[in-house]
Amino acid sequence: MASQVFKNKTFSSVYHKYMIPISKETLNMVLSFVQGKRNGQPLEMAVDVGCGTGRYTIPLAPHFKKVLGIDFSKAQINLANQYNLLDNVSYMVAPAEKLPIENDSVDLLNAGLAAHFFRVDEFASEAVRVLKKKGCLAVHGLYPACDIEYKDLSHDLTVVMSEVWKILYQHADKSKDHLLCQYESIYEVIPLKDKQLITDIPVKFQMSFPEIIEFIQAVYMFQIFLEKDVKKAEQFLKQIEKRFQDILGENADSVRLNVNVKHYCVLARKD
Ligand SMILES: C[S@@+](CC[C@H](N)C(=O)[O-])C[C@H]1O[C@@H](n2cnc3c(N)ncnc32)[C@H](O)[C@@H]1O
Repeated sequence: MASQVFKNKTFSSVYHKYMIPISKETLNMVLSFVQGKRNGQPLEMAVDVGCGTGRYTIPLAPHFKKVLGIDFSKAQINLANQYNLLDNVSYMVAPAEKLPIENDSVDLLNAGLAAHFFRVDEFASEAVRVLKKKGCLAVHGLYPACDIEYKDLSHDLTVVMSEVWKILYQHADKSKDHLLCQYESIYEVIPLKDKQLITDIPVKFQMSFPEIIEFIQAVYMFQIFLEKDVKKAEQFLKQIEKRFQDILGENADSVRLNVNVKHYCVLARKD
């Protein structure tokens, strides 16, 4: 199972350090959806499943009385606890398919960049069980591709990145099918009537090319590649590094590249 790589302590720190930033755009959509039909009623409990090191858990804290992050990787939860300075945030090791949470107790059940690893039917039933009446489910992800813009080199740089993703896909399991259809497959199995799927949420940020190389190493598919064949995986990284350097020339390391990615989000509300 691809998600087992998150149980590796070293990969856990690489992921935390080098994964691209969370999508504030998506997070704002989630928060407006949750606040939508509440008439100002305070939000008590959010649970972030597949929380990893807490990158999406912490930003929920100002909006809820309590936030609980849950992940089946002890390595991820150890790091999350290490980084947590907030009194209303806590973490637990548990699987998404059997949440240690009471029935009808959660205002928001969130899963960022994680639901494609879950046994989705079981997670969806758990969501319905733990959500309060009018409680919301939000599952969102990142499309595994990106365009790079820089002067007149955008085309060449984007071609290199497309080739990177093509190689990485070879090391994914069926989790990648959920990513490539922008969670339509997950949207379909959620047994709630009030639901919507928002795709192609554009997100832009700047990165240097060494940061892009670090980001590649934080992708779970690269970690699987590394575990299968260290030599080939390292060679692949070196080749990509060289191709970026050849395209960008002298100041390769210092130029800031515009990176465009897209996110998508399933939002659902219990009757
Ligand atoms: C790509 S990381 C995302 C972490 C975090 N949400 C973020 O955006 O940084 C996916 C996380 O899902 C967790 N995970 C995968 N399958 C799981 C499962 N069945 N139950 C609980 N956690 C799971 C992994 O351990 C990992 O921490």
